[in-house]
Amino acid sequence: MKKLIFAISLLLAAGAQAQTIQGNAAAGKNDVFMCEGCHNAGRGYKTAFPDVYAVPMLNGQNAGYLEQALKEYRAGTRRNQTMKAIASSLTDQEIADIAAYYAQPAK
Ligand code: HEC
Repeated sequence: MKKLIFAISLLLAAGAQAQTIQGNAAAGKNDVFMCEGCHNAGRGYKTAFPDVYAVPMLNGQNAGYLEQALKEYRAGTRRNQTMKAIASSLTDQEIADIAAYYAQPAK
């Protein structure tokens, strides 16, 4: 019985944590060094891998949209080789932070 109660409380704790992930734009600022080369290289910038690809602008984009896009790349439901590799290295917290950072109004 004790074991069962312990297992349930672990599950509850995990559930509570999943709901309290809050994006922190200041933390996100430290994570985007690996994104800026492509996403902030200027309007109309294209990568040449795996094909020539237009790189979307992230600044000012809605946080929920960014978060969803990154999770879809990570899960493989949205397909892009480059973004899959990058999103796979990110935790849920980092994704939330990055989304909050890019969602800030332009200064
Ligand atoms: C090597 C170049 C490159 C790097 C580095 C890169 N991206 Fe991307 N990113 C792309 C390309 C190309 C696309 C468009 C892919 C597509 O059409 O799905 C994209 C798409 C996206 C999208 C979807 C945007 C939209 O409007 O739908 C998001 C969000 C994103 N990247 C976030 C990031 C973040 C966050 C990082 C850093 C952690 C990052 N990217 C690093 C090339 C890059």
